[in-house]
Amino acid sequence: MTRPIVLTVFGTRPEAIKLFPVIRALRADPRIDTRICVTAQHRGMLDQVLDIAGVTPDIDLDLMEPGQSLDRLTARLLTGLGEVMDAVMPQRVIVQGDTATAMVGALAAYYRRVPTAHVEAGLRSGDIWQPFPEEVNRRIVAPIADLHFAPTETAANALLRENVDPRTIHVTGNTVVDALLATRARIADQPGLAAGLDDLLARFGGKRIVLVTTHRRENFGGGMESIARAIRRIAGREGLAVIFPVHPNPNVRTVMERELGGLDNVAAIDPLDYPHFIRALDACDIVLTDSGGVQEEAPALGKPVLVMRETTERPEGVAAGTARLIGADEDRIVTEIFNLLDDKAAYQAMARAHNPFGDGHASTRIAGLVANAFGL
Ligand code: UD1
Ligand code: UDP
Repeated sequence: MTRPIVLTVFGTRPEAIKLFPVIRALRADPRIDTRICVTAQHRGMLDQVLDIAGVTPDIDLDLMEPGQSLDRLTARLLTGLGEVMDAVMPQRVIVQGDTATAMVGALAAYYRRVPTAHVEAGLRSGDIWQPFPEEVNRRIVAPIADLHFAPTETAANALLRENVDPRTIHVTGNTVVDALLATRARIADQPGLAAGLDDLLARFGGKRIVLVTTHRRENFGGGMESIARAIRRIAGREGLAVIFPVHPNPNVRTVMERELGGLDNVAAIDPLDYPHFIRALDACDIVLTDSGGVQEEAPALGKPVLVMRETTERPEGVAAGTARLIGADEDRIVTEIFNLLDDKAAYQAMARAHNPFGDGHASTRIAGLVANAFGL
């Protein structure tokens, strides 16, 4: 009997992090022919994850261009992924999240009447401009997919409100928790995997550390300038240091290189590979971010997370009290950070380890549901 071909398509760092445990679980099932196509919408940051996770793609479209526009990226993704699907002829496609690769992967599958499974389905901010363009990307996947892997009940309810067939919605947890737990266990076994931070953490020894990441399009321009000024002010405080792996998007990098160069207490560094980033998360006191994935990981490690956005599609962290939406205003960022540093009770209230996003077993559930859909 020929095995059904399941083609998993991804292209960016967060998709790779959230899909490597799913790929492992699928590969553990001999009844499924698991194929991987990366678009390499991100090149360097994708490869960092593939290397660490030991994932070798069957197809690599290698289509990142420096400073790529949404138009060109989308058009090239559609042509490239269409050709891949015509050649591979999968019985199912899997996409993750809300990137251009995920949206176009689902669209290309739809054009060929190939069923699509959506990992991390049902996240909604309710505002098509925040996050932009991710809110619309994920909404486009919803009517196409016939398997919706919702990370939480909140996400499942959002899909139900959009009249998605309840029989196709499965609350699995978010696979980011699987990735995080697996990577922490690997670091515990092999500390050398994250030893590249030894020198920096020794230099910042005894200081309280703020870990920063930012890359959202809503924050490009004025927002990035404001975040950079806030970091300068924060870093001026005695006993404090900032670790800031800077996203390579030129809209982020150019501002941060200009504003943060030469500051003793600020390590504005290249993106860290996943084990190093997890070590930085473990070592820090406060997380300041506009990332989706980091909002999910920080609560698992009991780190207060200040979210530089006006809305979030991940309300679970806010509801649990470990995340706070603060926007990207310079004064607000500085006030919130100093408040957490000065007010022990406020800090302790936010620094509680918990996992509202999953239990670490999402990927095996997902692989099982994919196999079930073939009647296996
Ligand atoms: C993309 C996703 C966003 C996701 C984010 C995760 C879209 C539209 N956006 O945004 O949803 O949250 O990834 O980080 O899908 N670059 C490099 N090397 C890399 C990666 C990026 O140089 O490894 C630079 C390139 O100049 C590239 C630019 O960053 O053109 C933008 O990359 P792109 O994937 O279009 O947008 P992101 O802002 O990374
Ligand atoms: N991350 C990483 N190295 C870094 C910064 C982040 O490995 O230097 C990881 C982080 O742990 C999380 C993911 O990248 O799992 C988040 O990616 P990003 O913020 O780029 O995208 P988003 O989640 O906002 O879509």
